Amino acid sequence: MQLPTDHRQFETKVTPDRRDLNQPAGRALGRVVSCSGARATIAATAFGPALGAHDGCAIGRLISISLGTSRVVGLVYEMRALQPVWDEAGPNAIAIEAELLGEVVDGENGTARFNNGIVTYPPIGALAHRIRSRDLALIHDLGERRGVALGVLTQDAAVSASVDIERLLSRHFAVLGTTGVGKSSAVALMLRKAVAAKPNLRALILDPHNEYAHAFQDTSVRIDASTLDLPFWLFRFEEFADIIFRGRSPLEDEAEILREVIAVARSRYRVVSAHDMARDLGSSVLKRPLDPAARRAEAGGAAEQAAPYRITDLFTAIDELIGLHELRYPRTTLRALRVRLETLYGDPRYGFLFAHANSMETIAPVISQIFRVPHRGRPITVFQLAGLPSEVVNAVASSLARLAFDLAMASRGSYEILLLCEEAHRYVPQDQSLGFAPTRQAIARIAKEGRKYGAYLGIVTQRPGELDPTILSQCSTVFAMRLGNERDQQIIRAAIADASASTIAFLSSIGNREAIAFGEAVATTMRMRFSDMPPQELPEMERAQGLGDYQREPGLDELVSRMSRQG
Ligand SMILES: Nc1ncnc2c1ncn2[C@@H]1O[C@H](COP(=O)(O)OP(=O)(O)OP(=O)(O)O)[C@@H](O)[C@H]1O
Ligand SMILES: [Mg+2]
Repeated sequence: MQLPTDHRQFETKVTPDRRDLNQPAGRALGRVVSCSGARATIAATAFGPALGAHDGCAIGRLISISLGTSRVVGLVYEMRALQPVWDEAGPNAIAIEAELLGEVVDGENGTARFNNGIVTYPPIGALAHRIRSRDLALIHDLGERRGVALGVLTQDAAVSASVDIERLLSRHFAVLGTTGVGKSSAVALMLRKAVAAKPNLRALILDPHNEYAHAFQDTSVRIDASTLDLPFWLFRFEEFADIIFRGRSPLEDEAEILREVIAVARSRYRVVSAHDMARDLGSSVLKRPLDPAARRAEAGGAAEQAAPYRITDLFTAIDELIGLHELRYPRTTLRALRVRLETLYGDPRYGFLFAHANSMETIAPVISQIFRVPHRGRPITVFQLAGLPSEVVNAVASSLARLAFDLAMASRGSYEILLLCEEAHRYVPQDQSLGFAPTRQAIARIAKEGRKYGAYLGIVTQRPGELDPTILSQCSTVFAMRLGNERDQQIIRAAIADASASTIAFLSSIGNREAIAFGEAVATTMRMRFSDMPPQELPEMERAQGLGDYQREPGLDELVSRMSRQG
């Protein structure tokens, strides 16, 4: 692509449009002087104190190139003066580089249609214009699909930025951007619109900063360490082990013992329940402990099922192993495990695991509390992770993601559930050796198969580079907000099929609350600005409760105790 180097030749070309350029009302910009398959260069003349001062031509804007009954739409990605001097009185020859995105084709009766891709390329000399508002609206129109406005186009505030909420949810979405650009606020806006548009939608927000309850005061329930009931028996083996061993993998013996005693406790619970029912028959044999062979058989499967058991049976089963004549495990390991369990059981911070666990016979109360069945006008659950002991966060996130999937699947599509993960790079990190494998699996399962059953994923992160790219690539709509880091921009480029190099280049410079929206829920890649939200609808970190503790200056004892908890 060669630009005319002869300034005079260049100027003569654009002379006919000079009058228009001087008048803000005129839409003409200049003429095409070169065109390749994907790009065109427009030669124009600019007057005035600054390049691009006249409305309608600036980086990131769409322009149109007239071809009679159709108009090719281009995105301006570069502008420069052809001489390294600027004459304020003008004229100044400038070159505008545009990436060609598609074309608006006029139909009959004043109708028009936008097609991605181009059939007729602009010839050299074709006239480029500032785009009409009508064309801009047409380009971003979702047609038959139901659109919900999340804001306006950056280029023209008269045109609303609509997304197809159905697609947005069912094909998963991601909101990426550096810290403070407005990700959480954008998510609050989207969820507000989503639950309004879809009455049977539930949303579960994993909220690491306890900030979302503020945004959904009337439509959410807040679950925190004091209101949570997540019985210990509901966890899968790996999750429970992660809690007990505080994030380190259990040694072979420890894992084996734990599996075995859980299986024994489960089978005893079932036996005792059966016994309760058969009490009249006076069947005392049912209380007999399982023989070792039966224990081993049970150990294979029973530890994995979310069937209840009693913590006391766990202690008894360990004691029985300690008391065996022929020891199968080292006594010290058995004793250490018992102490670990006792400590956990006696620690009030873990009350949510044990307090009501044995008054629950099934997972029904958990499902009803966390997944809002029925939702009673509050379809959003804000799960506040900030007050939970840090060593249970992984297991809790894993079990919730797993339950969300299982519930959606069991409901056969009648309950749709969105799992919204803030700081998603923590749960599904790019580095496979980091993170907690069961959480990764549970989230990956929603990402890969969730849409079939109505389990959807929303991902928010400031560090797309640290996020598992396979999860990101399952997010069919991406709101890319400001991302300064070159590597993060590359990640987006790789993950999004229709992300052109020039669009991505803007990501380092777009404003707060602005996003470039790509993917299935939008008609065309769209540079937009999220609506202004009133303060009561914005996420805000809680000061009054929970985190309030962190606001006042703690005493030495409190500090030391917090530090030991963190370690
Ligand atoms: N749509 C909006 N309407 C009104 N104010 C907004 C909007 N978006 C962002 N803000 C303002 O910007 C601030 C930061 O936004 P927000 O907390 O959403 O950013 P973030 O990207 O989630 O930040 P972090 O990376 O720290 O989580 C908000 O507290 C709010 O004051
Ligand atoms: Mg945030």
